Amino acid sequence: MTVANPHASLINPPAQCVGIQLAHEAYDILIGPGLLASESSWQDLPRAATAVIVSNETVAPLFLPQLEARLLRHYARVEKVILPDGEAFKTWDSLNHIFDCLLAKACDRKTVLFALGGGVIGDMTGFAAAVYMRGVPFVQVPTTLLAQVDSSVGGKTAINHPLGKNMIGAFYQPQRVIADLDSLDSLPQRELSAGLAEVIKYGPIADAAFLQWIEDNIEALLARDKAALAYAVKRCCEIKAWVVGQDEREQGLRAILNFGHTFGHAIETGMGYGAWLHGEAVGCGMVMASDLSVRLGLMPAEFLPRMRRLIERAGLPVVAPDLGVERYLDLMRVDKKAEAGEIRFVLIDGLGSAVMRAAPDAVVAEVIRSHRA
Ligand code: NAD
Ligand code: GLY
Repeated sequence: MTVANPHASLINPPAQCVGIQLAHEAYDILIGPGLLASESSWQDLPRAATAVIVSNETVAPLFLPQLEARLLRHYARVEKVILPDGEAFKTWDSLNHIFDCLLAKACDRKTVLFALGGGVIGDMTGFAAAVYMRGVPFVQVPTTLLAQVDSSVGGKTAINHPLGKNMIGAFYQPQRVIADLDSLDSLPQRELSAGLAEVIKYGPIADAAFLQWIEDNIEALLARDKAALAYAVKRCCEIKAWVVGQDEREQGLRAILNFGHTFGHAIETGMGYGAWLHGEAVGCGMVMASDLSVRLGLMPAEFLPRMRRLIERAGLPVVAPDLGVERYLDLMRVDKKAEAGEIRFVLIDGLGSAVMRAAPDAVVAEVIRSHRA
């Protein structure tokens, strides 16, 4: 897969649309500035009497009134569910709170849910939509970079379990993804960096030219240059749509989207949800997975410093917490990719190409020791 770089020619990027085509359904990912305010983004969604916006205490004051006003043009009733903010609240309790509200408001099986927020809200709203009355439609309105480039696309929904990240969930696709780039204006810089981890991920796994583009444009991305963000979000969504289109339920190929996640999920769970942001853990996890790729002879030695440098430039941590080697290994054995207790890693075996491999515990232990604080 190769890309041309349109960045230089774009000043005010127009809205763009990436289609995602699955075996039994298809939907659009709309990307651009001003989408919350534009009428066309909200047309032709499933008809219903009621729309329900699910958001959190941080995001709701920023965007909910605008979204509510927009939806009232299409739905007779717009209800709101506001959850506490944070990864620590991606739980059964929050999910039940959504169900309590839906039932208390007598929401029927045509009700459309709108996930307004980052990946935490998107994953929980999607899961609620998957199981409420055995399935109601939902729309993703991602407001973090991470959610726009990754979590809102492809239908993975979940909550965390104290013993493992995203362990309880369902595959359930949204009707549409509406990624308004203007919503990123208010994102804290630490969250922007966390989103860049998932942007960077797409380069080594699928597109060497995109990796180079990110290296050349990392400052523009950190400065929230709208044209750079538009290009990055679109390219990430194209790659994700291409992967998910071939392997919606992660029977094989889709696992490449988890580059860095095996180490990263261990950091998140081991430190307690929320201590490290998901993107921070993935960034550090990609450094460790790059090292493992080198140690197993899949990549030349210079790949590791290249990845470490880019992840550092993105404002992400590259030194892992010292959980202890055994604890890391135990946590990684709970990873969804593990089979019969054998940990399997997404590794890079050529720029733009990824494979799934088991690795000897001794080599993994060396990686952990080399990168811990
Ligand atoms: P998040 O949802 O916690 O959002 C990050 C923070 O930014 C929160 O405090 C949130 O309230 C705030 N925020 C959101 N939008 C804002 C805005 N526009 N302005 C100001 N503040 C804003 O975290 P995230 O990084 O978006 O998502 C991480 C989650 O996504 C993790 O739970 C991860 O497991 C999940 N994830 C899922 C998938 C998937 O395929 N489903 C993929 C990657 C990550
Ligand atoms: N974020 C990994 C996936 O969607 O498969």
